[in-house]
Amino acid sequence: MNPVSIIARKRDGGELSAGEIEAFVAGFTRGDVHDYQASALLMAIYLRGMTDDETAALTDAMLHSGTTLVWPDGSPPQVDKHSTGGIGDKTSLVLAPLLACCGVQVPMVSGRGLGPTGGTLDKLESIPGFRTDLSIDEIHRIVDRVGCVITGASAEIAPADRKLYALRDVTGTVASIPLITASIMSKKLAEGLDALTLDVKHGSGAFMKSLDDARRLANSLVETGRRMNVATTALLTDMHQPLGAMAGNAVEVDECVTLLEGESDGELRALTLALGAELLVSAGVDDSAEEAECRLADEIASGRAYEKLREMVAAQGGDLDAAREVAPASAVESPQAGYVAHIDSEQLGLAIIELGGGRKRQGDPIDHAVGLKMLVRIGDRVEQGQPLVGLFERQAHPLARRMTLEAFQFSDEPVAPPNLIEERIGP
Ligand code: URA
Repeated sequence: MNPVSIIARKRDGGELSAGEIEAFVAGFTRGDVHDYQASALLMAIYLRGMTDDETAALTDAMLHSGTTLVWPDGSPPQVDKHSTGGIGDKTSLVLAPLLACCGVQVPMVSGRGLGPTGGTLDKLESIPGFRTDLSIDEIHRIVDRVGCVITGASAEIAPADRKLYALRDVTGTVASIPLITASIMSKKLAEGLDALTLDVKHGSGAFMKSLDDARRLANSLVETGRRMNVATTALLTDMHQPLGAMAGNAVEVDECVTLLEGESDGELRALTLALGAELLVSAGVDDSAEEAECRLADEIASGRAYEKLREMVAAQGGDLDAAREVAPASAVESPQAGYVAHIDSEQLGLAIIELGGGRKRQGDPIDHAVGLKMLVRIGDRVEQGQPLVGLFERQAHPLARRMTLEAFQFSDEPVAPPNLIEERIGP
């Protein structure tokens, strides 16, 4: 394999074979292909794109750069959900235990906050004792015993993605649909899944700002899953405003616990049930989304899903009953009367980072106690002085408060709220 001729062909708009992609990625993972050569190929891919065949080959090569989870014959179907991320996006915490009550298993390998969007692992670490660094053996044992796990990617899973992502980050090549597809799918498919559903968000708090871009990414992800023989579907969902009420860390865990205690029926519940239904239908547990949603609702109503969350948390060293610290709340009030027309959700995510609830640099510590509570939604009529957001802050933080306030725009005319689920992509 000559890396230079592979780079040059992609630079000139040619198509690479699966063998060439596999050899390049394997060489890069071993250290035989240099960072500057991988950077050049990444830029060529960014500029020239990839065919579906090439994207699937890149995913396969990255997936097989490390360990994959292998489940014994006769195990229940293995399923998972991946979200492209957003503010207040906490469905994983509810979905994993809920699905584990329904005859499937969930070996969820998850991530930390990326930019203004929160990370599932950071949220879970607000539970005292909760471990997110499980070994491959521990993942197998807990999934076998409890039915679900949520942990971080160990160094053994898709190491090529870890190295490539670090290069993409510093070479302006993150925003490429084939590269994002291979990055996400290599890590998810390393879990040894039978079914995967993707929550692809669009809007002010999402990676993909427009519905068209979200649709292009979702199509690429679903097509790659299909080519890799994993039943894959996607929902295009709203991120023009935070999902549910809470955004932060401990406060999001509290919201999930409340949902599993059966005390909530808002957007978070609706989206969680829709995503769960996708997986139960793909895994063959239910024949229709309606049937699956009824099953999921029953598991919440019976308290079994809540008990399953406690079981998972305990298996991962945590104590769901131990107090989770939440900082004191104070209201951010509306400067005017009108209809809530626009919420800059990314700005709200950045305000949480200012409060200490997210990272400015890799490795920064996180204050799990801070965050915010949305008190209004797009389309709501508000009066001057009405609280828009509750800020959970350690002490008065004028910058975070100003950022929160500036995230809101108002209209004198009524405004239609955005659709929670815009579209479904899949068979
Ligand atoms: N998330 C990932 O895991 N990879 C990307 O490339 C983008 C988002």
